[in-house]
Amino acid sequence: MYRTHHCNALRAANIGETVILAGWVHSRRDLGGVIFIDLRDREGLTQIVFRPEENAKLTARAHSLRHEDVISIRGPVAPRLTGQANPNLPTGEIEVVVDELEILNRSDVPPFPIDGEVKDEDLQLTYRYFDLRRPELARNLRLRHLVTKATRDYLDSQGFLEIETPILSKSTPEGARDFLVPSRVWPGKFYALPQAPQQYKQLLMVGGIEKYFQIAKCFRDEDLRADRQLEFTQIDIEASFVRPDDIFALTEGMLAAVFRAARGVDVETPFPRMSYHDAVNTFGSDKPDRRFALTLVDLTDVFRESSFKVFRGATERGGVIKAINAKGFASLTTGQMNELEALAKKFGAKGLASIKVEGGEWKSAIAKFFSQAERAALQNRLTIEEGDLILVAADEWPVACEVLGRLRLRIAEFQRLTNTEVLDFLWVTDFPLLQSDPATGKWSAMHHPFTRPKAEDLPLLEQKRYGDVRAEAYDVVLNGVEIGGGSIRIHERDLQEKMFAVLGLTSEEQERQFGHLLRAFRLGAPPHGGIALGLDRLVMLVCGTDSIRDVIAFPKTNRGQDLMSQSPSDVDPRQLRELGISLAEKTG
Ligand code: AMO
Ligand code: AMP
Repeated sequence: MYRTHHCNALRAANIGETVILAGWVHSRRDLGGVIFIDLRDREGLTQIVFRPEENAKLTARAHSLRHEDVISIRGPVAPRLTGQANPNLPTGEIEVVVDELEILNRSDVPPFPIDGEVKDEDLQLTYRYFDLRRPELARNLRLRHLVTKATRDYLDSQGFLEIETPILSKSTPEGARDFLVPSRVWPGKFYALPQAPQQYKQLLMVGGIEKYFQIAKCFRDEDLRADRQLEFTQIDIEASFVRPDDIFALTEGMLAAVFRAARGVDVETPFPRMSYHDAVNTFGSDKPDRRFALTLVDLTDVFRESSFKVFRGATERGGVIKAINAKGFASLTTGQMNELEALAKKFGAKGLASIKVEGGEWKSAIAKFFSQAERAALQNRLTIEEGDLILVAADEWPVACEVLGRLRLRIAEFQRLTNTEVLDFLWVTDFPLLQSDPATGKWSAMHHPFTRPKAEDLPLLEQKRYGDVRAEAYDVVLNGVEIGGGSIRIHERDLQEKMFAVLGLTSEEQERQFGHLLRAFRLGAPPHGGIALGLDRLVMLVCGTDSIRDVIAFPKTNRGQDLMSQSPSDVDPRQLRELGISLAEKTG
């Protein structure tokens, strides 16, 4: 037997019992010949002690123990000496006096300590199997398990069946690049890894499954960020005969179950809802972080007739004037101001006007152009006070909103406005169905091409007013992070063909890419809809970290590498020959 207890089990009540523990040498202190070791396993720490006066030979052996050696020990549980108890440790009242030691394995000198702060993420990812011993990471993986378990239990209780769908599949248009897998049996042909099981889950609805879910791996070849990985996991859900309200209630129930299981908190349901237009218009984002105000204020009407040409000109070109008031932030540093200006530029601002209210004065390059009435209107709408910083953007609506939305988030970071205790859930609804590429004028689906237009907007689709058509689509947002998105789907062949046509697909292309779906829709496809939640992002928020790498056992770097196994990697030329592939040029 390696162990009778884990390392977080023993308490004062166990004093006198003889126990066997196994784990890693976490730390070692030698005090006048006595050796204290904190023995660690997944569950926690227990102090074990070797006393030369009781067992000299054993204590001498214990001298050879180093950090991260793996041992199993046996001995009686004893109280710690008076004054030596550690109130910060659950096992802090006791220690185990070792009378048998088995050294199970030795460790090299660790690449980094696991009980301190380590800041070399590349090194940590290279030794990920070692880093996972850090209590924070172990805790995150445990919470991830609790989240998936609560998800499965909840969806099972609602009659949903967990069904797997293929990984070797056909390209699905979810907006990112596909990962392709060459076929050996069919030279020159490729499978695609699923960006999401979207078409399969819809086909399951045609198959009469009615309620499906899957903890699904998804693969997207896209630029990475803190909350994006090349492969990630979705809680993927689809149901037949549902309206958005059914999906909202289901998702809310599931998230409440998840937060109860993993965090022990009660989430308030139903979640508030906000239209896409309102979210962008007032928060400058379709995933608004509403834990602080700093909202966007519209000033377009104020400056329509202005003698300040920059603003009047913007309104004449159909643009808007919008502003935010960063309360008490007139004192920002030049560095901070430069950063805000650079941020505005990065997101397409043609300019950024600012007003600092200091010593009762409006310090600004542009305030001198304002009329009395304009000044008063500004003062009023933005409730301007001493110490405020006003930032104004004059641009097309989407640009002005996005720019101020980005500034808003950065300022909130500067000013530490975010209450990290709050869980702010929000449904964002009524997304546009289509968006056009400003460069090519081509229309693409904002969510995906299977999303249903709102019934009342169908006439707009007929009138080719594509930009005005709203979709039966929704996102669920938590604290400014999009944790999920979904829609009611098109289930009629004609409407689906129409949608594909708007997206520029010829009949032949439709048949080649989506023939299976279009045929399925002719065999009695039920109305259906669903949602997918980003499991990694959800767990990230449950854990309170800000990178999804912290909640994935073996994540990739921002450059898509697995530093531990060194992938992607070269492959044997024979493998390439078998696949009929020759490399155009050798890179790297
Ligand atoms: P969508 O593309 O919005 O919808 O994805 C759903 C959710 O998945 C998460 N997510 C990601 N997480 C980590 N890394 C990524 N690269 C990544 N990309 C997306 C987000 C997102 O909200 N098939 C549809 C869903 C549906 O219509 O039912 C879909 O995949 O949290
Ligand atoms: P200019 O005439 O371009 O030198 O601009 C005069 C002032 O207006 C400067 O303070 C600019 O930052 C500001 N400004 C210019 N264009 C915009 C814009 N699109 N939105 C907000 N402020 C602007």
